[in-house]
Formats: sequence, structure tokens, C-alpha cells
Amino acid sequence: MRILVTGASGLLGLNLALEASEEHTVFGLVNHQPVRSEAFTVMQGDLLVPGTVERILDQTQPEWVIHCAAMAVVDACESNPLQAQKLNSEIPGKLAAIVGRGGARLLHVSTDAVFDGQRGDYSEQDTPNPLSTYARTKLEGEVNVLKANSAAIVARVNLYGWSLLGKRSLGEFFYHNLSAGKRVNGFTDVFFCPLLANDLAQVFLRMLTLNLSGLYHVVSRECLSKYEFGVRIARKFGLDEGLIAPTLVETAGLKAVRSPNLTLNTHKLSQALGAEPPGIDPGIDKFHQQYLEKYPQHLSEMAAGE
Ligand SMILES: NC(=O)c1ccc[n+]([C@@H]2O[C@H](COP(=O)([O-])OP(=O)(O)OC[C@H]3O[C@@H](n4cnc5c(N)ncnc54)[C@H](OP(=O)(O)O)[C@@H]3O)[C@@H](O)[C@H]2O)c1
Repeated sequence: MRILVTGASGLLGLNLALEASEEHTVFGLVNHQPVRSEAFTVMQGDLLVPGTVERILDQTQPEWVIHCAAMAVVDACESNPLQAQKLNSEIPGKLAAIVGRGGARLLHVSTDAVFDGQRGDYSEQDTPNPLSTYARTKLEGEVNVLKANSAAIVARVNLYGWSLLGKRSLGEFFYHNLSAGKRVNGFTDVFFCPLLANDLAQVFLRMLTLNLSGLYHVVSRECLSKYEFGVRIARKFGLDEGLIAPTLVETAGLKAVRSPNLTLNTHKLSQALGAEPPGIDPGIDKFHQQYLEKYPQHLSEMAAGE
């Protein structure tokens, strides 16, 4: 298949472009952050510049577009709501309409954060209630995509993994700080179900081959607190878990409101795949194995111009 991955310099997009290029012809769109890759063709373009979506689709002629590009830093969205609105709400709808007209398919990436986290175990049927600008704009993006293109897949995700500059994921945060002997906070009252980016990428590729459409929760089959996640990383990497201070999220002084219980139900996904998505410990084992195999260094060498 010919696959266009937007956000190919980002945490998800880069790992996904690398995973997909094992078996497919992949084009990866980046904007400000240059990337050097022998595995996939790197394209440059700002999705907010009129004509970019059309130009990139015309040049790449994809059968599938996996849209990972977003304003994905929660507090940055709070500081710049207009930009968040354009990138997270408007661009996905526009992309969905143009992709649909050209006969290609779209997998649009959304977030678990569309829920207010008061209950947890949310299914695709449950009503979202976004608490932050990031969450609100991402929810609008979902609605715009499915309105413009009912054949699209919308995947609500949560993930961690190794990233281009080593600073993008919670897994990297715990690894880097603990290995430098620094104390960090671990939220005991925020629950999530993160998948390793590479495992998430493999689930996405399976969803494409199965020709799915509609809304799916694509997260780990298991969930835990952010504190517990840090502890498991520490144990796997042989680092001092005592450096992680159990903390309540409201005491952390974060700019945007966070939803406490973002555990999602993956029943619909498991039915469609015929198998459950990966659990937490196998993901952390693989994250550690990638570290041993110098995957983080491989990614950082792809950061052209750094
Ligand atoms: N990370 C998480 O924990 C998490 C959790 C839930 C959901 N998600 C969702 O997963 C998706 C990927 O997130 P991520 O963490 O991988 O994001 P990320 O690391 O912050 O990367 C964002 C990507 O978007 C690109 N981008 C931003 N503005 C652009 C523009 N105007 N034109 C073209 N590209 C642009 C960036 O390109 P440049 O850097 O080259 O400018 C970068 O490649 C997003 O939809 C996010 O909402 C992420």
C-alpha cells in the first residue's frame, strides 16, 4: 500500500512511518522539524498554509492517509486556542473531505482526553465531555472528520515511546529523569491505558488491512495510574523508583485541567481485530528492549539539522 503519514517528526508519526515502511511505501509529512530517513520519503509542508493538503496528496497519491499531525501539547493549546482550533479541528475535516473525494482512505488520530474522566471504562458509545482546549478541539476534529467522510477511521489513543528528540513521551520523561537521579512527581489519581507507539502502529496497520471505519478506542487492554507506570519503568530499567513522589494532579500546578480517569474500553477494537490489544508490561518490556538495541539513538540520528 501507499501510505501518507502526517506528523512524521512526532512521537507517533515517526514510529508509525518506520513500522509501516517495513511492508509499505510510506511518505512522511513533517513541518518545522526536519527528518532524515532511508526507510520512508520525507515530505515538508505546513498544513495550515492553503494548498498544502492538496499538494501533498497530489504528490504522494496515497491509498491511506494516517493523520498524526496535531497541536498535541495540552498546555500549548491552552496558550494558543486559535492555532489549536485550526490544527486540531479544521484541518482534520478538510483533510477528510479531500481524501474522500480522491478515493483514498483516512485514519484520523484522536485522544482519550475527549472524556472528563469522572467515570472511566469509556466505550465508543459514551458521551465525551472535554475539559481543556486540547480536548475540545480534538473532539471537534473527530466530528468534522466523520461528517466529511463516513468511511474514515477515528482512533482515540494514548501512547508512549522513544521520540526524535527524546523528550516527547511520559516513558522518556521517567527514564531520563530517573537515570539522572532526579526526583519526579507521579500522579496517583490519573489513570490511563498507554500503548507503546510501535504497538499502536501495528494495530493501526491491521485496522487498515481489515478496512475498518468509524470510531475506535485504540489503547492498551490494561490501565494504570501514571505513578504506577513510572514505577514499572523504573523497575524494568533498574532505576530507583523511590525518586518518584506519589502526587495528586491538582497539586502539580498544570495550566490545563486534566481528566482523572481516562481508562477506555477496548471491546469494540478486540472484536474487530479478533484479538485484544497489547497489555502494559509487554509494552514496557519492548520499550526497554528498544533501549538495549539503541533505537533511541537511531531516532535521534534521524533528526536532520540537529
Ligand atoms: N502523545 C500522547 O501522549 C498522545 C495522547 C493521546 C493522543 N495523542 C494524539 O496522537 C497524535 C500524535 O501525537 P504526538 O504526541 O505524536 O504529536 P507530537 O509528537 O507533538 O507531533 C506533532 C506533529 O504534528 C506536526 N505538525 C504540527 N503542526 C503542523 C502543521 N501546521 N503542519 C504540518 N505538520 C504539523 C509536527 O511537525 P513538526 O514538528 O515537523 O513541526 C509533528 O510532526 C495527535 O493527534 C495527538 O493528539 C497523543
